[in-house]
Amino acid sequence: MTPQSNPHAGLAPLPEPIARLADGVELLDPTQAPPIRWGIIGAGWIGSVFAQDVAAYSSGTIEGVAARDPQRAREFAENFGVARAFDTYEELVSCPDIDAVYVATIHPQHEAAALLAINAGKPVLVEKCFTMDAAAARRIIDAAHATGVFCMEAMWTRHLPHQKVVSQIVRNGGLGQVVSVHADHGQSLEHIRRTWDPELGGGALMDLGVYSMSFVQQVLGDCEIVGAAAKMTDLGVDVESAALLKSATALASASSNFNGKSATYGEVVFSDGALEMPEQFYRPTLLRLRTFGAGRAGDNGELVEWDGTVPGGFQYQAAEVARCLAAGLTESETMPLNDTIAVMDLLDDMRRRIGLVYPWEK
Ligand SMILES: NC(=O)c1ccc[n+]([C@@H]2O[C@H](COP(=O)([O-])OP(=O)(O)OC[C@H]3O[C@@H](n4cnc5c(N)ncnc54)[C@H](OP(=O)(O)O)[C@@H]3O)[C@@H](O)[C@H]2O)c1
Repeated sequence: MTPQSNPHAGLAPLPEPIARLADGVELLDPTQAPPIRWGIIGAGWIGSVFAQDVAAYSSGTIEGVAARDPQRAREFAENFGVARAFDTYEELVSCPDIDAVYVATIHPQHEAAALLAINAGKPVLVEKCFTMDAAAARRIIDAAHATGVFCMEAMWTRHLPHQKVVSQIVRNGGLGQVVSVHADHGQSLEHIRRTWDPELGGGALMDLGVYSMSFVQQVLGDCEIVGAAAKMTDLGVDVESAALLKSATALASASSNFNGKSATYGEVVFSDGALEMPEQFYRPTLLRLRTFGAGRAGDNGELVEWDGTVPGGFQYQAAEVARCLAAGLTESETMPLNDTIAVMDLLDDMRRRIGLVYPWEK
């Protein structure tokens, strides 16, 4: 274990050779981040997950929540121990006791809520998919740049310990060149109305495929889609979709569906080994390093596993915001705004290829 890796409570130390390959990785403890008071816009499901993870596993607190219906905000506050319920989103963003805003509405509402926060001077963490298209993402980011306000996409995956290790191993280059990247995200979401409804930004791509696409972009950086396929519902959203991508040096696949729970695996293949997340690459999970043996078919090489599971998970992105704010930064190095734009450009291209057109675009 290298001194920098500093695994914290509940997290197993990195075994060799993962520790050596990931030399320099910083696995910071969310309970040690500077304290921060959050306000949540949108009293729905993901807002409740964030509220619970932040309260239980980080140094932050949830100071307030706002919903379109004030009564729902009051119920949310009561259920999740939130200090205040605001009658409107506007009241929340102008409250001086709130240090940062988490946008937890459905994705077609992200842009308006993010701009509301930024224009009130409040740092903002915006749920994925960041916006419905890259043009809207650019509008938010332009506003953040113009006002000097912190902004970050809530792609919580990138801040998780196992993903920090993956990124560091890619950066250090000890496993050779990246050959290919694969990610799949399938869930059974048939019972959730918004996934079917085009008016609510439905479809697998924008909800789940964004994780697969973002993982590919995280590993490869610049890349482009070279092929795509999808199965669409009668209402015109994708039940499943798959993209083939390429960078200057590697190929990738990124897929998703909302009508069947898949293993949700992620994999990076290098010239001298592979990193595998056999299940749930997008949440705290097991990381497996495979170093190749003689390289012949049937020789699976040597396996070393690291259990990167921790309770919760959203606390890591919340702690990242807290650290960035304390350091006076306006964006995160782990989830930079250029990467958000790059992912949104890929999603735009994918939508063009599969014919995923939302009602307000017709
Ligand atoms: N990071 C993750 O693991 C994860 C997991 C699931 C979802 N998400 C993301 O989180 C966001 C919210 O998902 P969710 O499952 O929490 O959704 P949800 O519970 O259905 O809705 C969240 C909030 O969106 C607003 N909303 C819902 N329907 C609306 C409508 N028709 N018009 C205007 N506003 C509406 C409501 O805000 P009010 O309370 O103000 O009415 C609601 O509380 C999505 O962008 C999704 O992609 C992230």
